[in-house]
Amino acid sequence: MTETGAMNEEGGRRGRRSGEGTEAGQGGIRLVGRLADEAATRDLAALLAGAAEPGTTFLLEGPVGAGKSAFARAFITHLRRHHGQPPEEVPSPTYTIVQTYRAGPLEIWHADLYRLCSPDELVELGLEEAFETAVVLIEWPERLGELRPSGAVTLRLEPMGENARALALTLPAALAGRLAPRLAAFGLERNGEGTGHA
Ligand SMILES: Nc1ncnc2c1ncn2[C@@H]1O[C@H](COP(=O)(O)OP(=O)(O)O)[C@@H](O)[C@H]1O
Ligand SMILES: [Mg+2]
Repeated sequence: MTETGAMNEEGGRRGRRSGEGTEAGQGGIRLVGRLADEAATRDLAALLAGAAEPGTTFLLEGPVGAGKSAFARAFITHLRRHHGQPPEEVPSPTYTIVQTYRAGPLEIWHADLYRLCSPDELVELGLEEAFETAVVLIEWPERLGELRPSGAVTLRLEPMGENARALALTLPAALAGRLAPRLAAFGLERNGEGTGHA
């Protein structure tokens, strides 16, 4: 079981929205800062992809054009390259809801819930199993409703002009500790305990 998965187990993922947990460790560490350009977003995606394990979920929040798909594309491309696989096209799954990829032994799910009618569709697609076994990236996670996992990494991107993006990153404490030396390069500031609704 991965660290993230273990937190999911403890937190009782099903039937509880992540923001409602009050126990220590539920919300994780919240870091805020600025990504100066798309290259910075890609660098952050590569850093987080390198830490991803089966059972790690990334919730990508922010308005249309914020860079959620750009982040996901860089994340998937990095993992495939890391496993010696050629780049694959990563289309936005706006219409298909979910696209899946492989990177070596890892299964990656990339979901865009913008056009989702009901969370039931996600149950049919097998998202709950994917939360346990795959690396999952979700755009518009607000639409998950009760399926929203606790213990996930949450990124919120907000446009600040053409290329800069305000970033709020919430991640489980253990992962934040492990990545701290490399996250330092992004100049993020600690901003209290995260709630999962950064
Ligand atoms: N710092 C940045 N991070 C991510 N994308 C950026 C950044 N600066 C500019 N962009 C551009 O913003 C657009 C983001 O689009 P997209 O990733 O599809 O957004 P979303 O999926 O959030 O709707 C892309 O055209 C990308 O090239
Ligand atoms: Mg998108």
